[in-house]
Amino acid sequence: MPITFDPSSRIFKLDTDSSTYAFLVHDEGYLVHLYYGPKVPDTAALAPLMYRGWYDSLSPRNPHVSDRRFSLDFIPQECPGSSNGDFRISALEVRSPAGDTVTDLRYTGHRIFPGKPELPGLPATFAQEGEAETLEIETADPVTGVKAFLLYTVFPGYDALARSVRVENPGSASVDLERAYSMCLELPSMDYDFLHMYGRWAKENTTVRHPLQHGLQGIQSKRGMTGPNHNPFAALVRKGADEDQGQAIGVSLIYSGNFSMEIEVDTLGCPRLLAGINPSTFRWRLEPGESFQTPEAVTVFSGEGLGGMSRRFHRLFLDHLMRSQWTKKKRPLLINDWEAAVFDFDDQLLVEFAQEAKELGVEMLVMDDGWFGARNNDYQGLGDWQVNENKLKGGLGHLIDQVNALGMKFGIWYEPEMVNPDSDLFRAHPDWIIQAKGREPSLSRNQYVLDMTRPEVRENIYQQMCAVLSSHNIEYVKWDCNRNISEAGNAVLPPERQGEFFHRYVLGVYELMDRITSTFPHILLENCSSGGGRFDPGMMYYSPQIWTSDCTDPIERLTIQFGASLCYPVASMGAHVSASPRTGFETKGAVALMGTFGYELDPRKLTPEEKAVAKEQIAAYHKYYDLIHYGDLYRITDPARDPYFADWQFVSPDRTEALFTRVVMRKPENYYQTQRLRGLDPEKYYTDEATGETYSGALLMSAGIDLSAPWPGPQDGSCVMKHFTARKAQG
Ligand code: DGJ
Repeated sequence: MPITFDPSSRIFKLDTDSSTYAFLVHDEGYLVHLYYGPKVPDTAALAPLMYRGWYDSLSPRNPHVSDRRFSLDFIPQECPGSSNGDFRISALEVRSPAGDTVTDLRYTGHRIFPGKPELPGLPATFAQEGEAETLEIETADPVTGVKAFLLYTVFPGYDALARSVRVENPGSASVDLERAYSMCLELPSMDYDFLHMYGRWAKENTTVRHPLQHGLQGIQSKRGMTGPNHNPFAALVRKGADEDQGQAIGVSLIYSGNFSMEIEVDTLGCPRLLAGINPSTFRWRLEPGESFQTPEAVTVFSGEGLGGMSRRFHRLFLDHLMRSQWTKKKRPLLINDWEAAVFDFDDQLLVEFAQEAKELGVEMLVMDDGWFGARNNDYQGLGDWQVNENKLKGGLGHLIDQVNALGMKFGIWYEPEMVNPDSDLFRAHPDWIIQAKGREPSLSRNQYVLDMTRPEVRENIYQQMCAVLSSHNIEYVKWDCNRNISEAGNAVLPPERQGEFFHRYVLGVYELMDRITSTFPHILLENCSSGGGRFDPGMMYYSPQIWTSDCTDPIERLTIQFGASLCYPVASMGAHVSASPRTGFETKGAVALMGTFGYELDPRKLTPEEKAVAKEQIAAYHKYYDLIHYGDLYRITDPARDPYFADWQFVSPDRTEALFTRVVMRKPENYYQTQRLRGLDPEKYYTDEATGETYSGALLMSAGIDLSAPWPGPQDGSCVMKHFTARKAQG
């Protein structure tokens, strides 16, 4: 059993295949964290780990506890409250009917059950009985009566824990949630680095790793969406750990709105990490009898470095988060018209694109922005989701028929949350946009954000989308979102509930996305937010692929995709070959193959040589589909730091097949180059498909492969791909 409770020591132990998480119920009902790290057999012996210090005269102590070492100011906790003697950052803060914010949660019971409950209205990991086990701890504040239920689901084979909190108000007066984090993680020392990703539009997922400092540090979004500036992912990486070895704890928040991952290192050098909804833009009124469910946070423990952490996240998300039927179904290889045509297209041009692309082996045409309303530029039309028949003469059905007649599928673009002031929708409902009372709303890309908290707004957009999707053979939707939320305010909520706006917005988007994907389960949904502006696990629940970045320069894309792969599977990363000028056509394909793969260019403009290469790329896409989509990813170099090379490798789960790719970002000084492969079976023998030479896995991982290039050496922007297949061990 992965979850055990020892009644004598009152210790809960949550074991995965290679990790242990433990906490105890103190005599006074506090939930005291004990341990998170490599799997250990001990239980009762963990109890002394709760003490971290001696009595400090300034730190309050519970008068019923005689042990002078016990002050909440030092004790590691599972769900630290507020103003109860713990002066560090708090996970839960409730403003009582009396107006104070003292929040003091004590254990009142627990239950352990197989499987995993759904979180109402929220994306979350899922599991059947036998795949996971869940612990629900019930706690209550003795004065307000407010209850907090802490949920822990253990995914043993993934070394993962999924955590969330449900708060209930069983009292007779309303209370306000001021902070409601999804999880708290306490660690015993500063022997960890803080690793996270920052970025901006077209430069997402730059990784940074720095030592923890005393005091506060963290990442957040207040943009209404997760945004490209910080991804809701962080890792605490043990000093000395690297890509291939050592301990790393990854934290991923399954949420698409204002988030916070906050770390405080206290005076003793002990870090406390909180992950959840950003409290700086949040306050939630709980009326008597109401409850509030936080989003889910997932932690993964790896004793095999960052690479091991990533591979665990990838498998967990593919198996237990991405619920689309397309997650494990072969996705159609697409061409998207955006970079080639922007708003300047008609049905004839699109049919020409489809005809040319079909010749190469492309399977689906995606018509991006510009097909609806008066959308001839980005000043007009958003919100009017009716086909523009001046562009698509004969109607959308006629266009799709022509594409289908070529044997290709058809996909379409939407930006459901947005409206241009120059649109029929805005003229009819100017009050449907997000705006703070009495303030002029800002424009961004000439558009406003529709207030998705309001059911009538969602219904309008749903009906408009349904009218098109249900009457045409559309097999793919790209759901875009090209601005963030400012001047936040809601016309319906009373002033004391305005703090609920941002979370309600996210819930509204989830509801609409759920409705669309449930009504049209056959449609492959690809999310997008000016590229990777909402590249998060919440979105991944609905869409198995997300456009990773508007930057399609293959060299820039390397750092963007390597960064995304820290947490997200390659199968989720939208990646296209485009007309961007840097590197040759081969390298563009090699980089796009580290993602969903597709084209975003004018196929009529390809040279005969490029067309020949495209056909080879498409053959490689089919040949390596399973290896890339379901195999294990090994990042061999870090393109953000390596001066010359981006090297990566996919290995099949049974370790009989491997695909190595090198992109030369800058010509090295030295022609003599080798690289050690990763993740192979040392006992197996692998044949290099190109040369027919056979080597042991042990040799390939220890001595490596020869990547030397004859004079004048490897060129900037060139690439090498090497495929190895194994036969049984010799002798
Ligand atoms: C931003 C997206 O990232 C692009 O791929 C494209 O869909 C444009 N929006 C269309 O406006």
